[in-house]
Amino acid sequence: MGKRRNRQKIDPTPQIVNIDSIAHDGRGVGRDPEGKVVFVDYALPGEQVEFVPHMKRAGHLFGTTQEVLKASEFRIEPRCEVFGQCGGCVLQHLEADKAIEYKSEQLLENLKKIGNVVPEEVLEPLIKERWGYRRRARLGAKFVPKKGGLIVGFRERNSSYIQPIDRCHVLDQEVSDLIPALRECLSKLSIHNQIPQIEIAVADNSIVLVIRHLDAFTTEDLAHLTEFAKAHKIQMFLQPNNLKSVHPLYPENPEPLMYSLPAHDIVVEFLPTDFIQVNGSINQALVSQAIDLLDLKPNETVLDLFSGVGNFTLPLARAAHTVVGVEGDHALVERANHNKALNKLDNVEFFYGDLFKEDMTSASHGDWLDRQYDKILLDPPRSGAAEMIKRIKTLNPSKIVYVSCGPATLARDAGALVNEHGYRLTKAGVIDMFPHTAHVESIAVFERD
Ligand SMILES: C[S@@+](CC[C@H](N)C(=O)[O-])C[C@H]1O[C@@H](n2cnc3c(N)ncnc32)[C@H](O)[C@@H]1O
Repeated sequence: MGKRRNRQKIDPTPQIVNIDSIAHDGRGVGRDPEGKVVFVDYALPGEQVEFVPHMKRAGHLFGTTQEVLKASEFRIEPRCEVFGQCGGCVLQHLEADKAIEYKSEQLLENLKKIGNVVPEEVLEPLIKERWGYRRRARLGAKFVPKKGGLIVGFRERNSSYIQPIDRCHVLDQEVSDLIPALRECLSKLSIHNQIPQIEIAVADNSIVLVIRHLDAFTTEDLAHLTEFAKAHKIQMFLQPNNLKSVHPLYPENPEPLMYSLPAHDIVVEFLPTDFIQVNGSINQALVSQAIDLLDLKPNETVLDLFSGVGNFTLPLARAAHTVVGVEGDHALVERANHNKALNKLDNVEFFYGDLFKEDMTSASHGDWLDRQYDKILLDPPRSGAAEMIKRIKTLNPSKIVYVSCGPATLARDAGALVNEHGYRLTKAGVIDMFPHTAHVESIAVFERD
């Protein structure tokens, strides 16, 4: 509501602007002749573009590039045929090496501006395969007769409509290849207009599709879906309601989904809607990097906060004396305990805990809160880990490795660790977890003498 009220009607006459920098969401940033900041989709630093204004918010003008008058030397031809319309990737027009360089600059700028900190060393970006990397995704679906029937795709940029796609270059290749047949299959169902989304998970041993449906399937519908899953050798789950309602359609008793972390002799099992890191090959490299950076000794204790299914906790347990994992989703704590048993580890404990709570006590969260640790690994959601940083004195680690998907909150937390708690920011760098998108994943190391 508030946002809407701030929006003003604007004149859509094209304007020319020089682009000086790139914003956190991938838009080019310049200034109009009056010196006001302008954000332009698909414009790059160093370019002069003609753009069509489409929105004014908080005194800033937003628009979309109509013509590139002077192109950046780093501009390339986007690979995807729906680039510009699909909201999935916003940086396909930029050389991927340059994109990760911009992300590194953005991280350092955030650290300086928000946290008033500068890392002693900037780590080389962690880079792996840049196409076909997504092993988790949510496709939207909608029945739109004007567009020929059922469409499947991601949300458009700057709108809530779905951009129809036939394939996706960043999605796991096998899943991408399934899209036309999947659309065909869903179109045949009696409730084809009651399927808002399809959740995708790609495990090492199987592909899973979770079909969200708002109405009941007929017996014939279920036969169609089963046939599709059989023909394409995938698992098919149905979701008639909330997450708890997710259940397998085919096979009736599917083998558990798993991914392995061979460098650490760890196997992680998960359910189709569980959080797992989006990019599998980067995840393997990231887990190894985090463990290397923690520089664990066999007698050390480690705390892994926001531990999920145990992605870092279990490999950490191979290298440390004892590890404690804390996570705010009961189902993930259950899965992490299952994975602990699966990997025959007896030096790990998992706790449930809401780590954003201000009034955490050992009574509400467990006695892990009153213990001390040699090292801590943090991997919070985008909102960061402010409440845990406030408790860092009691937890008393000499070293902290912080994996972040939000450079601004990492910078805020880094500022507190360095300027209030006496840690040094010894290393920081970016991870190419989401190539061709504007998302920035990063890692930072804090040490106390
Ligand atoms: C970026 S994920 C990392 C998960 C895990 N470290 C991994 O690598 O798979 C962030 C995790 O924080 C958890 N989380 C979100 N809000 C939380 C909260 N308030 N308290 C504790 N955990 C929370 C999510 O459930 C998720 O598992």
